[in-house]
Amino acid sequence: MTQDAAIGIHDLSFATTEFVLNHTTLAEHDGTDIGKYHRGIGQQSMSVPAADEDIVTMAVAAAAPITARHGTDQIRTVLFATETSIDQSKAAGIYVHSLLGLPSSARVVELKQACYGGTAALQLAIGLVRRDPTQRVLVIASDVSKYELDSPGEPTQGAAAVAMLVAADPALLRIEDPSGLYTADVMDFWRPNYRSTALVDGHESITAYLQALEGSWKDYTEQGGRPLGDFAAFCYHQPFTKMAYKAHCHLLNVCGQDTDPDEIARVLELTTAYNTVLGNSYTASMYIALASLLDHADDLTDRAVGFVSYGSGSVAEIFGGTVVPGYRKHLRTAGHREAIDRRRPLDIARYRELHERSFPTDGGVHPVPRQTGGPARLLALDHHKRLYESR
Ligand code: CAA
Repeated sequence: MTQDAAIGIHDLSFATTEFVLNHTTLAEHDGTDIGKYHRGIGQQSMSVPAADEDIVTMAVAAAAPITARHGTDQIRTVLFATETSIDQSKAAGIYVHSLLGLPSSARVVELKQACYGGTAALQLAIGLVRRDPTQRVLVIASDVSKYELDSPGEPTQGAAAVAMLVAADPALLRIEDPSGLYTADVMDFWRPNYRSTALVDGHESITAYLQALEGSWKDYTEQGGRPLGDFAAFCYHQPFTKMAYKAHCHLLNVCGQDTDPDEIARVLELTTAYNTVLGNSYTASMYIALASLLDHADDLTDRAVGFVSYGSGSVAEIFGGTVVPGYRKHLRTAGHREAIDRRRPLDIARYRELHERSFPTDGGVHPVPRQTGGPARLLALDHHKRLYESR
């Protein structure tokens, strides 16, 4: 394995929303046995954005601790991955750039390929840092997962943002070559421009994920990747946490290995602690699995971690990383716990009201009620322009 001249994740921070809907509340409302949510899909609760929160405000909350710790001088690129974009033209990262006071001598761009976009941003960031190791790239993955009310996808909703500083000589994780890649034209999950909620063929999407996993593992092996047994843990894209278990079981089968539940739990269970209470955060999900692993595991110094990134439609990528000595000093475990614990629970009526909220499209001035306690908020939609303010 090449360690890519030691380029990787120097800092990682995530943020989520003001509100939370517990699955017990949803189950009482829709008459579902709670076992289906807790054990069947592996979800306990979902983050729900306040009226004045979106992918920008969550991104600011995720990235602000990183710029506070490292400054902004070396950041010459911001890569913002999302599949729940707020504008068809302007990159959401430009609002973040402004709210965080990043230097004008920086480029900002938005990237999309469903939940795979965060990994595309990470790999592009590594290329930029390899070209000039004095530069750092701020990678942001931020999404609000939203399906129609009362649809099968509803219990897998969620929202969160991850911010990662990609740098030479990283403090957390060195990203390795090679990657295993796989692309296939499938319609498992998509969202036409005129819809606010995603469309999904749920069971087909699980099959598509598993096929993409198999294809990208085959390519990873052919490219000279590590053997399965090298990895101390696997961070999967987690649209719901049970999916990681299905996927790892499939990978063991593909590799002709026993699907021993204890072994599967050993490599996965610490990666799901955050996503089980946040829900699906699309582009951010796999990197929140990494945060969960690093925050909860005993010492992982010099251990290899496997990453399985999947974006419907579809693109998948498998790659490895090695945990850097001394990484524990740089973790943000307390901040992550606080982001989860500070969320305020919603009753079903408030949740459904927030879910159905949308802006009028008349070009008028539409102030947004103050709800979030986060560092940035959406103030208004004014003549079709989104106005933000920071605290
Ligand atoms: N106690 C325990 N388990 C129960 C239960 C009970 N009372 N009742 C049902 N279950 C189990 C079922 O046996 C099933 O488990 P298995 O999958 O292991 O068989 C599980 O709960 C789910 O039950 P169903 O399949 O009947 O549930 P469903 O038809 O409502 O659909 C879903 C589930 C397809 C995941 C649906 O929630 C959905 O469409 N989600 C959105 C799509 C998605 O997340 N796809 C994942 C791959 S695509 C991707 O990764 C990109 C992305 O981010 C979207």
